[in-house]
Amino acid sequence: MAKGKNTTVFFCQSCGYESSKWMGQCPGCREWNTFVEETVSKTPSGGAVLRSDRRSAPAPTVLSQVKVGEESRLSTGIGELDRVLGGGIVQGSLTLVGGDPGIGKSTLLLQVCRNLSHQGHNVLYISGEESLAQIKMRADRIGDFSDRMLLLCETNLAEISEVIRSRKPEAVVIDSIQTMYNENVSAAPGSVSQVRESTSSLLQLSKGFGVSVLIVGHVTKEGTVAGPRVLEHMVDAVLYFEGDRHASYRILRGVKNRFGSTNEIGVFEMRERGLTEVQNASEYMLNGRPENASGSVVACTMEGTRPLLVEIQALVCRSNFGIPRRQATGTDFNRMNLLMAVLEKRSGLQLSACDAYVNITGGMKILEPAIDLGMVIAVLSSFRNRVLSTRLAAFGEVGLSGEVRGVSMAKQRVAEAERLGFETCILPWVCAEECRRSAKIEILGVRTVQDVIDRLF
Ligand code: TYD
Ligand code: MG
Repeated sequence: MAKGKNTTVFFCQSCGYESSKWMGQCPGCREWNTFVEETVSKTPSGGAVLRSDRRSAPAPTVLSQVKVGEESRLSTGIGELDRVLGGGIVQGSLTLVGGDPGIGKSTLLLQVCRNLSHQGHNVLYISGEESLAQIKMRADRIGDFSDRMLLLCETNLAEISEVIRSRKPEAVVIDSIQTMYNENVSAAPGSVSQVRESTSSLLQLSKGFGVSVLIVGHVTKEGTVAGPRVLEHMVDAVLYFEGDRHASYRILRGVKNRFGSTNEIGVFEMRERGLTEVQNASEYMLNGRPENASGSVVACTMEGTRPLLVEIQALVCRSNFGIPRRQATGTDFNRMNLLMAVLEKRSGLQLSACDAYVNITGGMKILEPAIDLGMVIAVLSSFRNRVLSTRLAAFGEVGLSGEVRGVSMAKQRVAEAERLGFETCILPWVCAEECRRSAKIEILGVRTVQDVIDRLF
């Protein structure tokens, strides 16, 4: 191939897999129909070359002599976000904030800019999506801004790096990476090669100037715009903003973090005046629980290191069809079927002739096995039409023999239930002893699902 010549390459828009020919299914991520042709210009001499003409070779450093100063972090002024980031934005880091369009990424980052500018930091917000007037309208809803907050509507990265070079802000927001382009790449903005190139330019900027860069990336399924997965490996931290379109709460989840743990979540609520932190997530999730209703129970789940109480509802009724209808919202459908089969086989309940619906309220999606026991109790409560105490919480994994198995962090789960005024906690027998020592509420240890039925129903 001649040097400096343009070639066409096919990229998977979902994971960035590169191929010289078009394929129906991506071998990398198994998605269908995601390959798009892009033109890339091959720059001369890319690979490793043995250079004899080099006068001074770069000198490697002895690891034990590398000095590390205390990494400096900027507090975003939003506690939930700081926690997900591991204590604030690290100076000179590149952070990706991904999420569906309209979930609130721009709003969150505008609020971060506002807080940083009020703390006396110079901030630059670069938008390739909205006009100055649109950003101003949004900013007016959020609050007042200091003069240290600068706005720029630009999509050309060469211009952007010029501005960063001259203004030297401490933090820069790029909204969004899919609108940015690098003149040296001929592919359209939003394509895999363009998104990759743009990110690597931003990486150089952030490391070179010690400026913290926050990148917004839209997650799309259509394949017209390259998703943030393409650049996850290039950035220092990846946060995903998720939530139900119909519910007002939003969850910020750390997926990758070179400066902290990734199993923390932040909970927010979208209000008229921007996003507000939800400090008491369990209370928020349990808002509006029904009283005197069968088929409702509270389960303790863990989101990272934080316990969270959620309500599990079940509705079990006689089926009018040969094949009963089953539906699970917010949890795994197959898991629900499996638990119902366990109840049928181990405890002789005639569930196979029943329709069943299980719902985790509040729009949460929970796949942790520790909610098994909650699901089982909710199904039993609805099947027997027995109302349970609203002061009852449960957690535990249920195995195929109907045994209730231990789960991690039992004490923290019990403590959360205690904090919210629950009176009884049903949990695996193996966890009961250690919890009883510290808990002030009643602890009911169970060994099997039959045990649960004997104690509660
Ligand atoms: P936005 O931040 O534009 O989402 P993204 O950048 O992820 O695409 O959020 C847009 C939604 O948030 C929009 O539907 C309106 C809503 N919103 C509020 O409810 N309250 C507010 O104060 C703001 C600024 C937005
Ligand atoms: Mg936006």
